Amino acid sequence: MSEDPPSESSSDPSPSSSDATDVRADGGAAGADDVALDPWGSATIGDYRKLFEQFGIEEFEEVLPEVPNPHYLMRRGVIFGHRDYRRVADALREGEDAAVLSGFMPTGDPHIGHKMVFDEIIWHQRQGAEAYGLIADLEAHAARGLSWEEIDEHTENYLLSFLALGFDPEEGEIYRQSGNREVQDLAFELGTKANFSELQAIYDFDGETNVSYMQSVVTQMADILYPQLEEPKPTVIPVGPDQDPHMRLARDLAARMRFFRVTEAYASFEVVEEDLGLLREAYEHRDEFAEDPERPRCIEAAEWLAEYETDAVEVKENLVRSLENAGKEPLRPRIRFLDRNATEDAFQALVESIEGEIRVYDEHIDTFEMTRNEAEDLAREVEVDHGGYGFYPPSSIYHRFMTGLTGGKMSSSVPASHISLLDDPEEGYEKVKAATTGGRETAELQRELGGEADDCPVYELYAYLLSGDDDEFAKRVYEECVGGERLCGDCKEQAAELMREFLADHQEKREEAREVLEGLELEIETPRRN
Ligand code: TRP
Ligand code: SF4
Repeated sequence: MSEDPPSESSSDPSPSSSDATDVRADGGAAGADDVALDPWGSATIGDYRKLFEQFGIEEFEEVLPEVPNPHYLMRRGVIFGHRDYRRVADALREGEDAAVLSGFMPTGDPHIGHKMVFDEIIWHQRQGAEAYGLIADLEAHAARGLSWEEIDEHTENYLLSFLALGFDPEEGEIYRQSGNREVQDLAFELGTKANFSELQAIYDFDGETNVSYMQSVVTQMADILYPQLEEPKPTVIPVGPDQDPHMRLARDLAARMRFFRVTEAYASFEVVEEDLGLLREAYEHRDEFAEDPERPRCIEAAEWLAEYETDAVEVKENLVRSLENAGKEPLRPRIRFLDRNATEDAFQALVESIEGEIRVYDEHIDTFEMTRNEAEDLAREVEVDHGGYGFYPPSSIYHRFMTGLTGGKMSSSVPASHISLLDDPEEGYEKVKAATTGGRETAELQRELGGEADDCPVYELYAYLLSGDDDEFAKRVYEECVGGERLCGDCKEQAAELMREFLADHQEKREEAREVLEGLELEIETPRRN
C-alpha cells in the first residue's frame, strides 16, 4: 500500500459531479459514482465508501480496539478511515516514540471543522506523542494568492484557538512554513525525487501552474516528514480525506528516500507484492510436486502452479513464466534487500551485519535466516548509522467533513453554513437556531416517524462537538430524535445554548492564550512584502 505507483494516485483529479452530499452515520451515501480527491478543489466527498475501494484507505473501526483511550471522534466514527495507523496506535500503547502533525492554511477564520483537527493533535499529544501544528502560509500565498498581511492576521487567529483548545507549546512545536528553514531544506531534497509529470497526474497541474505552487507541494511533503528528521518514528497526520493525495505522495517519497527496500522473494527473479501470495501457496505445497521436497525446483513449481485455480489469472501466468525461466533453480523463501540509494559503505555495513546465510549481488542482498520485520529494522538502523533518514511511511487518519448548517457543504466562504471560532456567542446561538434539521414536516409526523438524526446538521453538532466526551449524552439525543420523543425546536434551543456556552468559554481561553503566543519563538508578523 505504501508504494502505489504515482499514476494510480488520482484517477480523476477534477472536482466530482457528485450530487450526493448526505453522508450517513454508517459511512455510506447514496448517489455519487466517483469520488475525486482534490486538495484544492471544491469536490464534495459524496461517498466515503469509495475511498476504501478506490484508494485503499482502511476503515478506522478495524484499528479502534488497539487505540488506548480512544478520542470521542474515534469512538463515534467521525474519524472513519486511516492509512497505516496501527503503527502509531502500537507505539502509543507501548509508550514508544510517536509523533502527530497537521497543517492549516490560513485562508480565513478557524471554524468548528478545524477544531476537530486541533483536538486530534492535542489528543495525541496527551497520549504521549510529539506534537506539531503548522501554518501553511507558503501554500496559502502560492496556491490561494493571499497577501502576507491577510495571512498574518489569520495565522494569529488559528494559533490562539489551537492554544486555547489545549495544545501545549512547551512540549510540542508550532511553526510557519515560511519560518522553518529545516522544512524548506528537506522540501528541496524531497523535490529531487518527484517530477513535474507526477505532480501533473496527482494534482492536475499544467503549464500555467506557478512554480511556487509546486514548491508548496514539496513543502507539505517536508512538513509531513519533519517529525522524523532527527530520528525516524511512527507519525500520524490527521486530515480530511481531500488531503489523501498528499498522503500517498508523502508515503511514496518517504520510500524513495530510503537506502534499501525490503521485499520477500523465492528465487533469484524479482517479484511484486501480488505474486507473493501465489508463491507462498506453491511453496507450501512443495511436497506435492517436488521430487525432493527439501529442494523444490522452480520448474516443478511452475508445473504445479499452471494447474492451480485462481481469479488472478494474469498474475499467475506471469509468475508461471518466471518460474519456468528460473528452471532448476531451487524455490526457497528469502528476504531481499534492494539497494535504492545506499552508499557503498552502507551496503557493505549491511552485508556485514546480517547473520546467517547470505547471497550478495550487485544491487541486492538475499538473506535466509531473518524475518521481514527484523530485516526492516536492520535496514533502517544501517541507514540511520550512515547518514540516511530512515523514514517510516507516514500514517494518516481521516475525519468526516461536517455538513453545513444550511445543508450542503460547510464552507468558509458562506458564513451561515459554519460556525467560526471567532463568532460572537450570540451569533453562534442564532446560527444554530436557524440551521436546517432532519425533522419532519409537522410535530405530529415527527412523533410518529421520528426525526432523521443521520441527516441532521444539528445532530452532527451534538456528535462532533457539543457532547464533548459524553457518549451517553450524544446517544440520548440520537435515540430521542429517531424515537420521536425529541422535537426540533427544543433540540435546536438546547444545541444553540450549548454552542453559545462553548464559544464564550473558548473565546475567554483565546484571550488567555495571547500571552503564551507572544512568548513563542514564531513571528506573527512576517517581514515579507505584500
Ligand atoms: N494542504 C493543507 C490544507 O490545505 C495544509 C497543510 C500543509 C498540511 N502542510 C500540511 C496538512 C501537513 C497536513 C500536514 O489545509
Ligand atoms: Fe435534528 Fe434534533 Fe430535529 Fe432530531 S430533533 S432532527 S437531532 S434538530
